[in-house]
Amino acid sequence: MCGIVAYIGPKDATPFLLEGLARLEYRGYDSAGVAVAGRTGGLKVRKVKGRVADLAAVVPARFKGGTGIGHTRWATHGVPSDANAHPHLDNAERIAVVHNGIIENADELRARLAADGAVFRSETDTEVLAHLIAAHTAEGTELEDAVRAALGKVVGTYGIAVLDAEQPDRIVVARNGSPIVLGIGEKEMFAASDVSALVRYTRQVVHLEDGELATVRADGFRTFTEDARTTHRQPSTVDWEIDSYDTGGYEHFLLKEIHEQPGSVERTLSGRLDERFATAHLGGLNLDARELREIRRVKILGCGSAYYAGEMGAQLIEELSRIPAHSEPASEFRYRNPVIEADTLYVAVSQSGETYDTLAAVQEIKRKGGRVLGVVNTVGSAIARECDGGIYLHAGPEISVASTKAFTSTVVAFALLALHFGRIHDLSPADGRRIVAGLKALPDQIREILAQGDGIAELAAEYAESEGMMFIGRVRGYPVAREGAQKLKEISYVHAEAYPASELKHGPLALISPELPTVALVPDDELLDKNLTTLGEIKARSGRVLAIAHRRPDAKLADHCVLVPKSEPELDPLLLNIPLQLLAYHAAVELKRDVDKPRNLAKSVTVE
Ligand code: F6R
Repeated sequence: MCGIVAYIGPKDATPFLLEGLARLEYRGYDSAGVAVAGRTGGLKVRKVKGRVADLAAVVPARFKGGTGIGHTRWATHGVPSDANAHPHLDNAERIAVVHNGIIENADELRARLAADGAVFRSETDTEVLAHLIAAHTAEGTELEDAVRAALGKVVGTYGIAVLDAEQPDRIVVARNGSPIVLGIGEKEMFAASDVSALVRYTRQVVHLEDGELATVRADGFRTFTEDARTTHRQPSTVDWEIDSYDTGGYEHFLLKEIHEQPGSVERTLSGRLDERFATAHLGGLNLDARELREIRRVKILGCGSAYYAGEMGAQLIEELSRIPAHSEPASEFRYRNPVIEADTLYVAVSQSGETYDTLAAVQEIKRKGGRVLGVVNTVGSAIARECDGGIYLHAGPEISVASTKAFTSTVVAFALLALHFGRIHDLSPADGRRIVAGLKALPDQIREILAQGDGIAELAAEYAESEGMMFIGRVRGYPVAREGAQKLKEISYVHAEAYPASELKHGPLALISPELPTVALVPDDELLDKNLTTLGEIKARSGRVLAIAHRRPDAKLADHCVLVPKSEPELDPLLLNIPLQLLAYHAAVELKRDVDKPRNLAKSVTVE
């Protein structure tokens, strides 16, 4: 996935373009580029392999123009290189295009365009668009008409911004599967892949719909469809705070986002707990109690950490409502011709609301007549819009590539859904009250865990040099182990594997040695004795153990321990996960990794 920015107005575009790209860097960071329509005619273009800072270093002071577009790339077609960086140009260097998405029929279009004389200078699918738009730009053609005609020949997904040296009074943007947001300023206009690039300049935004285009001029915009019908879009106001997009004194966004969790959990809960009936109110479900009672099964779909959050959610739903619930990677589900049942409720989980595999799973379910709820952080995102209803997390923007606060808020949202389901079924008022009280206590309990940050940093330093780490947990603890292993490997690059503690003796015990320490989730619940037995088995094989526990295990069973406050048993996984976030973070810092932008990963994966 990639980030796009565009500016048109009386000022020089470049400062906004570079700053906007830096804010979108979480979307991709292997190369970056900008193009402006110069005041003296023609396009000025700079693009480099590397970060936005590398681009800024080569943009000269004379790089001026009031209309410009920019891009930060995450390679899909062609390696990261200067040549493959966007913007891409046509032969005459009149048309410049930046693109997020995939043109599926690029090879076929490229062959046809090359036969007509187009000279390709990159391996990207995007360059096809520049030549294709140029091919439709006869004398006197409006840029928007050329773009519309070109997109009519394209199969694939795109968010694009197009600049024409001969029509510098406008930028044309289009959306199909990859987001484009317009920002409305005072006699100036902006566009970007998401609002984080815009909020310093304007709070008034318009999210384009799939299949929609816009002509953006300094004094306004016009939106229209691919068949040239004008659409009428009212701006909405962005309510996220500007400081959500800064590290706010923390060394990394990740640490800031981990520390934001007491507040983000409060926001997820806000206005949704009903103490009188010991239940939760979820306004966006669009399902009444009668419809909810007809649901026989819940199927949760998401990718990566969203899938693991779904596993915790499935457990909560089964425990509190006794409705069978199961979580599956959306990326697998969509390819296996899934059976869609009328009495199953499907739930799609996504922080970004853009993950292509999850979106495709939602579309497949809907195509077959199923009902899908979204548990989504980004308001107005593609997945949120595709679903029949849902729960917004209100966790605030998550910038660091690894998910932390959105993960926690997702599990909180599932706890609310499970409580709501449970109280419609057989969960007693007393149990309902117990869960409500447990949820209300979470923010302070998270604060308690965060206060142990220094101690966890010391432990991380001790374990970071290991050749790998094992994460184990039983039943409720197993998804926690999976998420803990995921966090460690993605940001510290230390190999980590998660196993159900009960499975250890069926194979992985062979791996245990002093070089492969184990992080063990040891909640004080009905499985405590079983977990302690497993620790004994590990210690008997000279394994080192770091326990995340409610009570310190005997020193013979664990070398180190992080104590976590006790919640209700169903909610404990939420808290057990927080020290694992800090462990991964401090291990990554210790190993001098690029914590917020780990290698080979991007924040949301908008391609297959
Ligand atoms: C892990 C992580 C990824 C995402 C996954 C889904 O820390 O960030 O595994 O959870 O790519 O992303 P969303 O939630 O945006 O659909």
